[in-house]
Amino acid sequence: MNGFCDLHCHILYGVDDGAQTIDDARALIDGAYSSGTRTVCFTPHYNPLRELESAGAEETFRSFSAEMKAKYPDLTLCLGAEILYHQRIADSISRGACRTLNGTRFVLIEFLPDDDGDYIVQSVESVAARGYTPILAHAERDHDFLSRPGYALSLAEQEIPIQLNVRSVIGGNGKKVKKFCHLLLKEGAAAVIASDAHDPEYADARLGEGFRYVSSKFGSEYARSLFCATPRTFLGLEPKG
Ligand SMILES: [Fe+2]
Repeated sequence: MNGFCDLHCHILYGVDDGAQTIDDARALIDGAYSSGTRTVCFTPHYNPLRELESAGAEETFRSFSAEMKAKYPDLTLCLGAEILYHQRIADSISRGACRTLNGTRFVLIEFLPDDDGDYIVQSVESVAARGYTPILAHAERDHDFLSRPGYALSLAEQEIPIQLNVRSVIGGNGKKVKKFCHLLLKEGAAAVIASDAHDPEYADARLGEGFRYVSSKFGSEYARSLFCATPRTFLGLEPKG
């Protein structure tokens, strides 16, 4: 099985705390491709207080994606951002300071782990009210969400997509996190599983293992939606890779 789509990763090198060198980025893409990934959206961190650190991603993306496309012609690469929530996200996007996912209306938003659950819910709703579809990055990282899964379930009921990290789903971030992820998956409340890969030392960029695990526990149809079809739709691409 291949055709996985990684909606959230820090493989683009030298632009955030993810891959630091082009060799790291190449190793991450090689690992992702060999495990079956065929679409990758690079999502460098965007922090409104550190705007200058995010500059230069477009140029790096152009040269690096040209090299990777030459090596892997069936690989689709696109650019987005993982935006640290701030009140002026819509304005930041419209003045070009930060990016949606592949130029769509979907925005990948993260919060700090200690942010209040009510604040997170209200904040993502406010982004939706501005005409964007917020995707909540690694919901399992927020402490309030972890202890009260009702927060995540209520967002899913409102059709606000929730993204989980593959490592959390397979148990690499501890039992409590895994249990939370499995509760959401059992309820069908997670929309996307992505790598959030930063470091070539870890196998996070390899989605194949996670796909097989989720298929065996929650069914192959849901797994295909989480790893393939839904993230491609969020990137404005045809569901099948
Ligand atoms: Fe991330």
